[in-house]
Amino acid sequence: MKSVVIGLQWGDEGKGKIVQHLSKMHEWVVRFSGGPNAGHTIYYDEKKFVHHLIPSGSGKNKLFIARGTLVDLEVLRAEIDSMASIFENITQNIYISPWCRVITPVEKELDAKYEEMKGSMAVGTTKKGIGPTVANDAHRIGIRIFDLFDEKRAKEKVEMLVSLYKSVIDLNANEIFEGLMKNFESVKKFVREVTPTGNVLFESTQAIMLDPMYGTYPYVTSTPCLPQAALYYSGFEKGKLETYGVFKAYATRVGSGPFPTEIFGEEAEKLRKAGNEFGSTTGRPRRCGWIDLPLLKYACDIADVDHLIMTKADVLNGFEKIGICEKYENDLVPYDLENSKAKVRYVDGWKDLSDKAFEEFIDIIEKNVGRKIEYVSFGPAEEDIQRMNRKGF
Ligand code: GDP
Ligand code: IMO
Ligand code: MG
Repeated sequence: MKSVVIGLQWGDEGKGKIVQHLSKMHEWVVRFSGGPNAGHTIYYDEKKFVHHLIPSGSGKNKLFIARGTLVDLEVLRAEIDSMASIFENITQNIYISPWCRVITPVEKELDAKYEEMKGSMAVGTTKKGIGPTVANDAHRIGIRIFDLFDEKRAKEKVEMLVSLYKSVIDLNANEIFEGLMKNFESVKKFVREVTPTGNVLFESTQAIMLDPMYGTYPYVTSTPCLPQAALYYSGFEKGKLETYGVFKAYATRVGSGPFPTEIFGEEAEKLRKAGNEFGSTTGRPRRCGWIDLPLLKYACDIADVDHLIMTKADVLNGFEKIGICEKYENDLVPYDLENSKAKVRYVDGWKDLSDKAFEEFIDIIEKNVGRKIEYVSFGPAEEDIQRMNRKGF
């Protein structure tokens, strides 16, 4: 069995927690996209852990960072150390593809510089170097982890990068090279290509609306977020994936770009506080809004979702009124979301998830997206999740 977990909104849907839950049915968990821009929060027993590069899991899985992941060796080193302090034998289970592209200080500086130069058109990136690493890769001047096994070649590549951008940023090639090699020394024993067999779970990062090809371009990330990318970016030649699509009972977005159901002021503050909506990677307050069903249907259709999972239903407990968008004033045009106007109507809230109003909320979602919700998550812990047992399942 091969499965994939993806985000259906603008990220931070709780993918990490769902991966942790499903990882118990899988031997391997594989990251195939994104980089340290991702922040997946899970709890190992009571201990909070934010995964940036290493896939989430149960502590017993084999964990593979596959070739499509952009790797910052410093972040990786720190994350391996933190995991090793929780799980004694975890290092035996970590595998990193030599094909992975390395994020260097050059790309991080460029990320910050481009954002500054774009002014009001800035994307609001995480400044982790994602866009410039993908750009340099397209220019065929990227550095792979594999390149670091040959010090001479690695040094030449770093020197070329620094000299190519010297009119924009002023960095010292030698310092960068030494920093890279120091971090590489501590992680190189994990660098080995592997083709996982048996039950494999792919953990996507970001989400459909942040996908560079299907999302709200240019306000997107730079690596693919669709399940269709999982096999290609992990080195698998073929296979069929069971797709688990994750969405929140409301919506959030970090960074710039259109967000048709966004709310502001006190209403937004209340939701942000209830959902603790602050970025796992940058700590930025997340923009908040109501659930957008036409957009959710768009995401489900593109990703061809087999299993639908709603998270953070508990966050809306006690809200008197809850917003829902079922329609747009004009037609929803995904490539022109700036000019698409969402109509939000308010329905009765619920005290807790056993209320009839919650059942009605689920009915509205299912009717609009044309799929049944298979699981509902009602808390951050791995066990705070329930398979829906309603008519029709
Ligand atoms: P990811 O990037 O998709 O893995 O999500 P993040 O970890 O960035 O953000 C999700 C946040 O919601 C984290 O703080 C989780 O601990 C938390 N969370 C996940 N599922 C639930 C849930 O069902 N209810 C509540 N209250 N919190 C949840
Ligand atoms: P997870 O995996 C939410 C957003 C940034 C910015 C845009 C581009 O935790 O869901 P980038 O640094 O990738 O060039 O930034 O994408 N973004 C995320 N938003 N969750 C994430 O990851 C994100 N990764 C990037 O805020 O708007
Ligand atoms: Mg996140």
